[in-house]
Amino acid sequence: MEVNKVCIVGAGVMGSQLAQLLANNGYEVSMTDIEDRFVQNGMNAIKGNLKKYFVDKGKMTQEEADKVLGRIKGITDLKRAVEGVQVVIESIPEEMELKQQMFKRLDEACAPETILASNTSVLSITAIGSLTRRQDKVIGMHFFNPVAVMKLVEIIRGVKTSDETCQVIKDMSAKLGKETIIVNKDVPGFVVSRLFLVFCNEAVKLLEEGVASAEDIDKGCQLGLGHAMGPFKSQDIVNGIPVGLHSLDYMRDELGECYGPSPLWRRKVEAGELGVKTGKGFYDYSQQQ
Ligand SMILES: NC(=O)c1ccc[n+]([C@@H]2O[C@H](COP(=O)([O-])OP(=O)(O)OC[C@H]3O[C@@H](n4cnc5c(N)ncnc54)[C@H](O)[C@@H]3O)[C@@H](O)[C@H]2O)c1
Repeated sequence: MEVNKVCIVGAGVMGSQLAQLLANNGYEVSMTDIEDRFVQNGMNAIKGNLKKYFVDKGKMTQEEADKVLGRIKGITDLKRAVEGVQVVIESIPEEMELKQQMFKRLDEACAPETILASNTSVLSITAIGSLTRRQDKVIGMHFFNPVAVMKLVEIIRGVKTSDETCQVIKDMSAKLGKETIIVNKDVPGFVVSRLFLVFCNEAVKLLEEGVASAEDIDKGCQLGLGHAMGPFKSQDIVNGIPVGLHSLDYMRDELGECYGPSPLWRRKVEAGELGVKTGKGFYDYSQQQ
């Protein structure tokens, strides 16, 4: 299957970056969301990113940036947004029922051959696609933030995903300049999120047990393990505290008690200490401008 037109569902943090990546690589893109203002927010984010990271840095002329932007159509109506697309990438909030209902709607609205991919970080691909009549064409296509920088796409096979679907998504990822790993068994968190969440949870347990400070645990991970950023700083920055709690609860429910979030993690969410955006997470940002 030749892929030249893709629909992105959800114009938020990830969806807008995905639309930009695809358009940058020559794909025609439609980007949709529940309301026009969210679509416009996504378009503005793309415009800003193209200017800041490409035009201002001399990597693209303004004319080239305009061409990239011209390949992205913001369309609120889902039926119109999926017209003529070979692949849909869903990037709406990480809630099973929301995604299941979206996949049901997509199944009804899309041409029979269209592949339905989800950018979920942890949820079962098989369950997300369970209400569709095309489970062989449902697949996980997990990108990482920031999308333009992170080289990996984690491809997750649902129980019924066909080899052909997997190959199309693998080829498409390569055309986007990404490396892929294939997750053959649809388990919560797949490979990367599962490892990272367990790692972060262990860091929170160390903090809770008073073994070391957040600063020193982060420093240990950076200087001892070569991580670009420690677990506390990264959770604070990417809104990982509420999202991570939700994901760990899901992993505990599906995989067993040992995946359950540390009590301190839950306290942070209950206290509204969600990271940089609330002025406090594992670190205090209230004195910063
Ligand atoms: N943020 C990250 O770092 C990251 C990284 C990898 C994967 N993910 C995954 O990507 C997905 C999206 O995450 P995000 O951070 O971009 O979320 P986000 O909240 O920034 O964006 C979600 C968008 O989906 C829209 N939306 C909600 N319901 C919708 C519907 N029914 N139809 C169309 N649009 C709808 C919202 O209005 C919002 O604009 C999640 O599954 C998340 O787990 C996120």
